[in-house]
Amino acid sequence: MSTLPFQQSDGPLRRPPELGELQAQGPVHPVTTAVGDPAWLVTGYEEVRRLLADDRLGRAHPEPERASRSGESALFGGPLGNFDTEQTDHRRMRALLQPHFSPKRMRALRPRIEELTTTLLDEMEAAGSPADLHAALALPLPIAVICELLGVPYDDRDRFRAWSQAAADVTDRARSEQGLADLFLYGRDLVARKRAEGDPDADVISCLAATDGVGDDEAAMLGMSLLFAGHETTVTAIGMGTLWMMSTPGEWQALAADPGRVDATVEEILRGFGLGGGGLVRYARTDLDVEGVQVRTGDLLLLDTGAANHDPAAYPEPERFDPDGSGAPHLSFGHGARYCMGAPLARIELSVVFAQLVTRFPGLRLGLPVEEMTFDPKTLTGGLTALPVTW
Ligand code: HEM
Repeated sequence: MSTLPFQQSDGPLRRPPELGELQAQGPVHPVTTAVGDPAWLVTGYEEVRRLLADDRLGRAHPEPERASRSGESALFGGPLGNFDTEQTDHRRMRALLQPHFSPKRMRALRPRIEELTTTLLDEMEAAGSPADLHAALALPLPIAVICELLGVPYDDRDRFRAWSQAAADVTDRARSEQGLADLFLYGRDLVARKRAEGDPDADVISCLAATDGVGDDEAAMLGMSLLFAGHETTVTAIGMGTLWMMSTPGEWQALAADPGRVDATVEEILRGFGLGGGGLVRYARTDLDVEGVQVRTGDLLLLDTGAANHDPAAYPEPERFDPDGSGAPHLSFGHGARYCMGAPLARIELSVVFAQLVTRFPGLRLGLPVEEMTFDPKTLTGGLTALPVTW
């Protein structure tokens, strides 16, 4: 039986060989998670997509203390929520957040995102080549955007970034729980301040705090989940997207010559940046048959969207960066009832970033060979710790 995580012995831009071998054998595999628990790893595109939309799976567990875990992260490593009420609770959460994330609202943010990106790139250019694109752009931009949207002071970024990173630690449960607790306490203070300021339209957290029936704890919890969900993945997508494009000869120049390709490029970056070997955590709410495999109530399923996005049955050449390809729509934002609420925002951020980057730095190059880049294996998204570039 395979044990997670798989070794990425072919480098950071290629599927782990062991995952490729598993995928060639079928779509569902018994595995041992990184913390030694049994799970089913689902790697086929069609199966992952179907199971993401299947309400016989959920995030809660009938006996949480006995549940298999995928890792030590307090939020993502194990069960979440109340088994009996999770579907109603989840619908309530979405109903509260949805009005703030409509595509129309997100589109209205574009000019500000463009302005923030331009300022960061001005600073990077003024400081001169070489630069660290991670520190100069990939990290600060999503943080600045989510701060403005939520009404979180940008000056607090070092503190909440440290807590988010601790919360996302997949290797140390105590650290992860402490990070989450710190974030929550910070959120509670913020909600109290917003209530005192009394301007319900100022930002998302003010608005949540002013919503009938939403208490301080719930407003803080929702606000902090957004703060967390709203930056970590986007930071990783900007870094990995740049890395992937720079490693595909001609791709940067093709985009510089035709900025109209940016949206297709962003979709391809989103498809490619997670390589599989993990996945979205789900627990079976009932016994079920998955492609001939008998799954029992409470079993852990890892719906591996990264593997699905590289399934040769859905993408003829899964490891080729190909914005013009005719493969299936990627599953990087999930699918079904829990589809990412921030997808329209993330798409705008990535589109603005890559449109401005190629236009201003058509000669951008990596400052180090891909093999020498460093990643953070402790965090959920496993993103780059630095991205040296020259121009
Ligand atoms: C490239 C960037 C992003 C990626 C790849 C991403 C990916 C995902 C995925 C895969 C899920 C589904 C989780 C599951 O099914 O268990 C999700 C959910 C979510 N995302 Fe994102 N996300 C990104 C950016 C954002 C941003 C910018 C925000 C908010 C500002 C956001 C807010 C959310 C929220 C609130 C959910 C929970 C939805 C639910 O449970 O119904 N995400 N995201």
